[in-house]
Amino acid sequence: MSGPLPSDALVFFGATGDLAYKQIFPALQALVRRGALNAPIVGVARSGWTLEQLRARARDSLEHHGGVDRGAFDKLCSLLRYVDGDYADGATFERLRRELRPARRPLHYLAIPPSAFSEVTDGLARSGCATQARVALEKPFGHDLASARALNQMLHDVFPESSIFRIDHYLGKEPVLNLLYFRFANLSLESVLDREHVDSVQITMAERFGVQGRGKFYDETGAIRDVIQNHMLQLVAILAMDPPVGEDVEAIRDEKARVLKAIAPLDAEHVVRGQFRGYRDEPGVARDSRVETFAAVELRIESWRWEGVPFFIRAGKCLPVDAVEVRVQLKRPPRDVFGTGVPSTQHMRFRIGPDVTALALGLCVKRPGDAMVGRVVELLASEDQTRDMLPYERLLGDALCGDASLFARQDAIEAQWRVVNPVLDLAAPPYPYEPGRWGPVEADRLVAAIAGGWQRPGDPTAGTAKLG
Ligand code: BG6
Repeated sequence: MSGPLPSDALVFFGATGDLAYKQIFPALQALVRRGALNAPIVGVARSGWTLEQLRARARDSLEHHGGVDRGAFDKLCSLLRYVDGDYADGATFERLRRELRPARRPLHYLAIPPSAFSEVTDGLARSGCATQARVALEKPFGHDLASARALNQMLHDVFPESSIFRIDHYLGKEPVLNLLYFRFANLSLESVLDREHVDSVQITMAERFGVQGRGKFYDETGAIRDVIQNHMLQLVAILAMDPPVGEDVEAIRDEKARVLKAIAPLDAEHVVRGQFRGYRDEPGVARDSRVETFAAVELRIESWRWEGVPFFIRAGKCLPVDAVEVRVQLKRPPRDVFGTGVPSTQHMRFRIGPDVTALALGLCVKRPGDAMVGRVVELLASEDQTRDMLPYERLLGDALCGDASLFARQDAIEAQWRVVNPVLDLAAPPYPYEPGRWGPVEADRLVAAIAGGWQRPGDPTAGTAKLG
């Protein structure tokens, strides 16, 4: 049976914007370089630019993000087109339609703020540009559960579900795929991921930087909407899902959605929000803002496999390090056979980034000497990420081929909103914290019952442990 036909043009809205500059041009050059994109690429924006200006912007983007590959860049420039105009103006889409000819199955990528989605999908539909087309769009998918449903309805007015590709760029990251691979390629380790063996799970997403000029966006968003509702819950789903059944492209997405639906909605008791000092002085941020730049939450998965195992997530800006790490804390053996105390930190650690992927197993071994006393050593495999495929390269390549497996599905997105919805607009102000600290100390309350409390992300490059 033949698969879906590849798209024969790529249109990207928001061509002069920040996302295009930082992520899309490097991804396009990489796709062109490996021969995965050899079709017209049409940038659309409302900046009053010319094609020459867009090409110059592409070069500048690549000089700052990954480097210009002469051959691939020249090819990219030859494929590049530009349509300028207001998204509310039908003439913009008429020009797009002319530019697209003779393409019949374009992929429209909306790298634009959600407030512009409806104008653009409307314009595409009226001009005939949506016929047989695919659409890829960026998070946030709504602002809460109700708006996520409304957005979905609006998309479905124009595109069938099979043509919609919702991007959560975490799903295109090599270490995230590695976590999925590790889960289902290692039977012995997979079988300890359950309530019998796991004491707790912690996911840390620490960023050293602040809001980096995105104050206006961030102040309408906050950490829970920005990264917990999407990236972090997707990591929880990948770690906690049951093995997929069958080989259908939906098999993995089905299991992820199933486990997300089993997460109990959060309440205020299980959330601690923080705001770094100085946030309110950022351009675009309200002087009395109550938006959180840090959030720590405790989740419960109400399933046979995970009942009683707490999943903690903490994510924030202006923290001491840049690190994303998933840590699975394993239970102690039921008896201390040697009567000398078993160290309590047997664990699995998955470093998602940045710069390095690492997978570590923390195991107890005997200390040399007379006594049967142990210590924890880490067996570690790590790899730097410089040769990884860029997330957007992978995801745009997949969308062009019509492969939806690495895209967020609407039922999963709704389940994710259902989890965070009750704590999106809490009345209590966030606790202040100093930049460079691990959020407010109040976050320790959540992990008070856990041995060791919050665990700092480990050293991703420490050498393989020596035994003895
Ligand atoms: C984005 C958030 O989705 O993910 C940002 O809006 C965050 O606030 C970013 O910094 C992190 O992604 P990455 O791939 O840069 O680690």
